[in-house]
Formats: sequence, structure tokens, C-alpha cells
Amino acid sequence: MKISATIQSLINEQINLELASAHLYMAMASYFLEAELRGFGNFFIVQVQEENYHAMKHFHFLHEVGGRLQLRTIEAPIDKFENPRHVFQIALEHEEKVTKAIYHLIDAALQEKDFATYTFLEWFVKEQIEEENLMRTILRKLEMIGDNTSALFFLNEELSKRSYEPSNGEKEE
Ligand code: FEO
Repeated sequence: MKISATIQSLINEQINLELASAHLYMAMASYFLEAELRGFGNFFIVQVQEENYHAMKHFHFLHEVGGRLQLRTIEAPIDKFENPRHVFQIALEHEEKVTKAIYHLIDAALQEKDFATYTFLEWFVKEQIEEENLMRTILRKLEMIGDNTSALFFLNEELSKRSYEPSNGEKEE
């Protein structure tokens, strides 16, 4: 069954939001690389890959259900940050915004009894729990670290180990 014009438009909005997320996290990666905090930089470079994967997951679904891609303008993200805590505060707020957009899409799909879209979106509900939790956990750590440079470098080292795993180990579509 082909998706409705409403769902098609919302999935396209979601593709744009995921691509905008990639832009935002690229700006954050750059901020950290410039500050010689390469572990944090690595964390956000991996996050850019995650967001592009999310966008492509919507892209493939859109085509599977007879939809049409309608790319929109992506505004330049913020690229001036006060400190690492500020970065993660913005990242957490951004992920909360993405979660709301996914819930809105699910709500629209259920109103239309579009169970194909609903089932597809279940993966994103779980993913958003992880994404928010990830940003929140690092923000809390940074709050505890405060001005302790040694602890900041320790966390930087920890974040340098993050690597990209498409869809948490699932095969890339
Ligand atoms: Fe694709 Fe971070 O939400």
C-alpha cells in the first residue's frame, strides 16, 4: 500500500532533520578537533555517520512504500560553543527534538492506520532512547568533571574508542 501525501511529507521532513543532525554534529566535531580534544571529535564524527545512516534508512523506506524524495533546505547549524558542556547540552536538546518528531510521525501513521510506517518507526523509538541517553550521560559526566582537566582528558580518551557500527550491528540496508 502506497503511503499518503501526509506521511510522505513527514518522512521527507524527517530525512531533512536527520541530515541537519549530521550537519550539527559535524560542527561539533570540528569544534573539538580545533580544541585538540580528538576523542570528543571522534565521538561526533561517528555521530555524523549515525545520522547519515538514519537519513538513508528513511530514504530506503520511502522508496519501498512508493514515496517520493523531496529534499529541503538545511540551515547552517550553530558553530560557536562556550565549552564541552554547552556542546552536549545542545546535542541533548537536539536529540529530544528528534524524538518528538518521530513520535509525531508515529501519531500521524496511527491516525491513518498506516501500520507499515508505524512498524518501520519502532526501530527509531528504540534508537532515540539510546541517542538521548548517550548525550545525557556524557553531559552528566562533564558536569561532574567541572574544571578538572585530568578528568576531561580521561573522558576524551574514552570517547576516542567509539567506532561506527551501522544500526548497532544490524546489516546496512
Ligand atoms: Fe538520528 Fe540522533 O537522531
